[in-house]
Amino acid sequence: MQTTLWTNIRSFPDTKYMGSKQAILPEIMQALSSIEFDSALDAFSGSACVSYALKQMGKRIVANDFLEFAYNIAKATVENNNVKLTPKTIEFLLEPNSKAGTFVRDTYKNLYFCEEDCAFIDNTYANIKELADATEQSIAMAALCRACMKKRPRGIFTFTGKKGWDGRRDLRISMARQFIDAIRLFNACVFDNGRKNIATCLDVFETSAEGIDLVYIDTPYISPHSDCDYTRRYHFVEGLCSYWSKVAIQYETTTKKIRSYKTAFCSAKTVIAAFERLFYHFRECKLAVSYSSNGIPGRDEMIELLKETKSKVQVVEIPHKYSFGNQRHKVGNNNNSVTEYLFIAE
Ligand SMILES: C[S@@+](CC[C@H](N)C(=O)[O-])C[C@H]1O[C@@H](n2cnc3c(N)ncnc32)[C@H](O)[C@@H]1O
Repeated sequence: MQTTLWTNIRSFPDTKYMGSKQAILPEIMQALSSIEFDSALDAFSGSACVSYALKQMGKRIVANDFLEFAYNIAKATVENNNVKLTPKTIEFLLEPNSKAGTFVRDTYKNLYFCEEDCAFIDNTYANIKELADATEQSIAMAALCRACMKKRPRGIFTFTGKKGWDGRRDLRISMARQFIDAIRLFNACVFDNGRKNIATCLDVFETSAEGIDLVYIDTPYISPHSDCDYTRRYHFVEGLCSYWSKVAIQYETTTKKIRSYKTAFCSAKTVIAAFERLFYHFRECKLAVSYSSNGIPGRDEMIELLKETKSKVQVVEIPHKYSFGNQRHKVGNNNNSVTEYLFIAE
């Protein structure tokens, strides 16, 4: 099959996801186009923008993330080659459902959203569960999660109340409007690259790289400026994907967050051993590893780790300014200017 060079991702919904590579995709894709591969596993897919760009390159993609909301985005945009939500289905999703639960209203009313928006989330979740097609369910779920994130300052759930609420349209418009806008965006990015792509929701060490040529690795970064706990930041949308049935909610917390999923990539004590294990797990494949210049391990240590299983390691440097900030890592200061490394190991 002919591989087309990646040119743009205009149709992929913009994302503020922590650690998203959307802003530096041209450089990443440029670097990856020098490697020979036909299939790729995006082992930590997050917003799915890298998987989507690889899909646009004509590759066969497996997109994996241990978060269920990330999985739904990947299923809707990467695995999905032809399903869109029709006007009739959208109408159905917006109808009142007498069987809808009240969990969001009861648990989260006025923590992140007003009562009306919480009731909309309860009702829409119930309608999504009545869709017969799993891909339609994922598009609708991805859209509902996106609507919730768009209605939060910085798209996160680490604080409650109205902090950061300004006059911005995204915060003013109703959850229903956000949901319809999000469906339009997800519908618009559906395309068929002629390959059988799949999305999975697994811990990275449970994934299989059988039949995969290249593994793209973009773990959380351990940085002195912020923690890298994705479950903590996005707990609300993660809980929503199973209507909190698969997660452990911590009722004693003000944010009503869920217990974070364990990952060895978020602690300085465990990260080195985790990378060693990861590179061994994918020892049969070519590797492309994104990592930040202010992360642990540093550049030289990462090269050493890769050389344990690979003979050739090349480093591409990409200057980057993260738009994501938290109290210790403010948007607009110099702490979020980093060099982004792409280690290519064969
Ligand atoms: C830096 S982000 C990936 C960003 C993504 N490349 C993008 O451009 O949006 C890291 C991702 O790793 C996921 N993750 C962390 N530990 C994991 C594990 N053990 N197994 C699978 N996914 C994991 C997180 O949920 C998060 O989405």
